[in-house]
Amino acid sequence: MTENQVPLLELRGINTHYGAVHILKDVDLAIFAGELVCLLGGNASGKSTTLKTLLGMVTPTTGDVVLDGAIVTHQSTSYRVERGVTMVPENRRLFKRLSVKENLELGAYLRTDRDGIANDLERVFEMFPRVKERLNQKSGTLSGGEQQMVAVGRALMSDPRVLLMDEPSMGLAPALVQTNFELIQQIHEEGVAIFMVEQNANMALSIADRGWVLQTGKVVLDDTAEALLSNPDLRASYLGESGNA
Ligand SMILES: Nc1ncnc2c1ncn2[C@@H]1O[C@H](COP(=O)(O)OP(=O)(O)O)[C@@H](O)[C@H]1O
Ligand SMILES: [Mg+2]
Repeated sequence: MTENQVPLLELRGINTHYGAVHILKDVDLAIFAGELVCLLGGNASGKSTTLKTLLGMVTPTTGDVVLDGAIVTHQSTSYRVERGVTMVPENRRLFKRLSVKENLELGAYLRTDRDGIANDLERVFEMFPRVKERLNQKSGTLSGGEQQMVAVGRALMSDPRVLLMDEPSMGLAPALVQTNFELIQQIHEEGVAIFMVEQNANMALSIADRGWVLQTGKVVLDDTAEALLSNPDLRASYLGESGNA
């Protein structure tokens, strides 16, 4: 469907090391504008490292990160954020002593378009009325579900074209996991591409277009979500015990 389009964000032949330890091994992947894709894999398979490599928090040893067709491997994280790449980190990483409002404002810190910022703040309030009610509350005192809303809201304040999400359902009460996936779909429907890392394979694949499976730093499956969902080997062979229902 997207053969002749330039991907929004790409990894080409990526090898990433932590010291002498080889983590990502020849990873290739491409995310196109407006897609919803997921990266699955068991514990310690390199999922977070993949996200950090995309965002420039980790520099690969070889290979390239490509944004809109241009190599950005050695560009800073802020360079990439300014061009529309944003992450909702693992465990949300809110500034707990700062208010909700301050956390949201930090999401827009690289922007200078005041009107755009004000519009996006309104957009976040529409999406999460609860966040608006708690603007002056310290973020650390919010419930897990509310913290997730603020973390997603903060990411949206950078006006992203692609949102990288590291295990967005982790640590949420079971009742909130479904709500959270609905929220991800809603953001996607507004035109933002989503690259989601998940251990919850069924949930992730049920909303994604395509997915990759990472096993000890190598991409072992790369297919449509439909094909991955019906792959009998997915859980047993590739996700280990953590590939839960
Ligand atoms: N900063 C780091 N320094 C050294 N090793 C790390 C660092 N971050 C992650 N690792 C190791 O790299 C491997 C992959 O980690 P990670 O990408 O976080 O996996 P996942 O997100 O799939 O659980 C793990 O073995 C982890 O212990
Ligand atoms: Mg991780």
